[in-house]
Amino acid sequence: MRLRRLVLASAVAVVLAGTLNVVPVSAGSTPQEPSGQSLRALGARHGLYIGTAVDMATLDDASEPQYRQLVASEFNTVTAENVMKWESLEPTRGNYDWGPADKLVEFAKKNNQKVRGHVLVWQNQLPAWLTEGVANGTITTAQLRDLLRKHITTVVKRYKGKIWQWDVVNEAASDPWDTPAEIHLKGFWAQHLGAGYIADAFRWARAADPSALLFYNDYNLEAFGDKGLSDKTYYVYKMVKQLRQSGVPIDGVGSQGHLGTQYGNFDAFQVKEALDAFSDLGLATAFTEVDVRSQMTAGVQAGDSNEINPRLQASAANFSVLMQACLANRHCLSYTVWGFTDKHSWVPGWFTNPPEGLATLYDENYQPKRAYNSIKADLIFSGPPYVQPRIPQNPKR
Ligand code: XIL
Repeated sequence: MRLRRLVLASAVAVVLAGTLNVVPVSAGSTPQEPSGQSLRALGARHGLYIGTAVDMATLDDASEPQYRQLVASEFNTVTAENVMKWESLEPTRGNYDWGPADKLVEFAKKNNQKVRGHVLVWQNQLPAWLTEGVANGTITTAQLRDLLRKHITTVVKRYKGKIWQWDVVNEAASDPWDTPAEIHLKGFWAQHLGAGYIADAFRWARAADPSALLFYNDYNLEAFGDKGLSDKTYYVYKMVKQLRQSGVPIDGVGSQGHLGTQYGNFDAFQVKEALDAFSDLGLATAFTEVDVRSQMTAGVQAGDSNEINPRLQASAANFSVLMQACLANRHCLSYTVWGFTDKHSWVPGWFTNPPEGLATLYDENYQPKRAYNSIKADLIFSGPPYVQPRIPQNPKR
């Protein structure tokens, strides 16, 4: 019975191939085995750039050849994990150390990669001379605003024409677990300069480089909640809408994409809805810092596959949801991961209570994990009508 069906099926296939002009798969017409291609090559099918954050110390570490090789081969956009932050660029007042940031820009050029500039205005990783100066009153509010303008102008001008997307303002919005729970502007810059610093920052950046795409970047923007006062995505949506209406030169919203498998998270339709809302405002979108961490229970640490497998699978599923939503939104220009190997990820050092890890595409031995193959499959098995080529973003004046 089974054999007869099989014979019948092959006979039908042969007839179909003969009469309907179906090209039989022969050696000559077989497409290159897609799973053997790089993420960057597969992203290029859609005009989508695939990126990673790069730790410069590891990139330069001669004992880590795989790190350097994979950054070059798998990705076509890179982000400095730390070396373009203010504390790294200007550790002492007035003395810029461009070395490591320059190196990344050169590496990118050599490897035909774009660069996401990260980051111009953020409350974290500020130089001590700046925060201490403000705290002890030796830097006045007027001077602080001037220092910010100079910093943005200096950095953006230095890399003028070399940065594809700048994260101009990072993590300005509070979280529902803060007090008050209604989302508000948080942190050093809002405290000292008031809400106007955001529009100022974008205008200063635009003046320094007319062609870079200028982004607002934040976490927990993957999907809308109830659109109430504690909905961060909705708050940022209203904020960037207001900026656009005021003629502020903002070009895009970066959704960081730091997720954890212990949370409910979202499906691809919910994530697409948020991206579409931003792009309907005339903005580009991007995933800028994707990683999906898991709690490292005693079982996980002891190598118990009953505990490890569901985490790896949930992590892969979340990477995939963000990729599918990005593919579905034609303004989603890039999908960047925040480190690509568990050997060099900020997660274990940052999320310690409880310990978390397993957040990236490759394991600690540079072996691709299920997450890697999931987003690779998304890139391979997608196309028209629901996935169309990217629509380029023109910088706003
Ligand atoms: C992190 C880096 O990965 C760490 O090495 C550093 O110690 C702290 O900052 N959101 C951001 C990134 O915008 O700049 C942060 O990077 C991760 C969260």
